[in-house]
Amino acid sequence: MKPQILAIAAAVTLAASANVSFAGDAAAGKAKAATCNACHGANGISAAPIYPNLAGQKEAYLVKQLKAFKDGTRKDPVMNPMAMPLTDDDIANLAAHFSGLK
Ligand code: HEC
Repeated sequence: MKPQILAIAAAVTLAASANVSFAGDAAAGKAKAATCNACHGANGISAAPIYPNLAGQKEAYLVKQLKAFKDGTRKDPVMNPMAMPLTDDDIANLAAHFSGLK
């Protein structure tokens, strides 16, 4: 293989593996979202003014907020215990699910 082709192949591989840690599985997120829907709404649009809409929110932002709730950087008496049991995969999947809703 020519060096240029090797370089391209390496770049593609890097880009693909970088995606793995970020791209969530929206279907798995949807299944996991059953508990979230009580407050944030089945379509990610909440029915109460104190619960934020999550539908269509940026995926990276949702990941960041859920991690912040989980590690206590962002404090909220309701959301801290919600985020605590979530794994990194759960968070990625939930973010993919809610960001994909209209
Ligand atoms: C009992 C109600 C309730 C449940 C259940 C709940 N949340 Fe929340 N959520 C809230 C409230 C209240 C806030 C606003 C917190 C604040 O004011 O900082 C919030 C905020 C958030 C935010 C930040 C939104 C923003 O715009 O910054 C995210 C993301 C979120 N919740 C995701 C989830 C996920 C995912 C689940 C399920 C695992 C979940 N929530 C379950 C009540 C709930």
